[in-house]
Amino acid sequence: MSRLVYHGHSCFCIENDTYQIIIDPFLSGNPIADVQPSKLQPTHILVTHGHDDHLGDALELSKSNKAVIIAPNELALYCESQGATVHPMHIGGSFKFPFGRVKLTPAWHGSAVIKNGQFIYTGCPCGFIIEFEGKLIYHAGDTGLFGDMKLIGEEKLDYALLPIGDNYVMGPDDAIRAAQMLKAKLTIPMHYNTFPIIEQDPHEFVQKLQKIGGLDGQVMEPGDVLLIK
Ligand code: NI
Ligand code: MN
Repeated sequence: MSRLVYHGHSCFCIENDTYQIIIDPFLSGNPIADVQPSKLQPTHILVTHGHDDHLGDALELSKSNKAVIIAPNELALYCESQGATVHPMHIGGSFKFPFGRVKLTPAWHGSAVIKNGQFIYTGCPCGFIIEFEGKLIYHAGDTGLFGDMKLIGEEKLDYALLPIGDNYVMGPDDAIRAAQMLKAKLTIPMHYNTFPIIEQDPHEFVQKLQKIGGLDGQVMEPGDVLLIK
């Protein structure tokens, strides 16, 4: 049985008894995370961009578990320079991993690692379409609304994980417009309530999603597990 587990902010695990794929593992220093990185044993780590609330514990998790970091080329090469195992990709490209296919989608945002006051630019940010046990899961990464989400929606998504925090990414109203283009069977909000500047009511978002868009949504609390079916 495969599972989708939420760990707060934009961090999710997609897992079964063989694979644990963690996306944007911001756990250390995340006030709402439910788990410490030492409790996880990922086989693959997907990172949407270089900001520290997404790259998070990726380097340490990669080194301690020999887990492959899958990320846009420049970010992947940065991770490799820090001792991680990587598989570089780029926007529009897909690759069939042992657990299923991963495709990188555009995301309108920035991407840099800030280390000792120095900015290391890490290319384009991305989103991911992840195939897992015959289901398609879209993780939008950090992004604003863009019309090409309509094209992503043509892939017949089962799950859409969308940021709603506003300020740095889409707010709830734009996330509803995004969900209407994506038409996933279930939309799950992310990237909210981690910090005061991104405070939102996810339950109100899910209600509006149903009322305005006629779409099913679900709020996951950090630690919640959803059976993927
Ligand atoms: Ni960001
Ligand atoms: Mn972010």
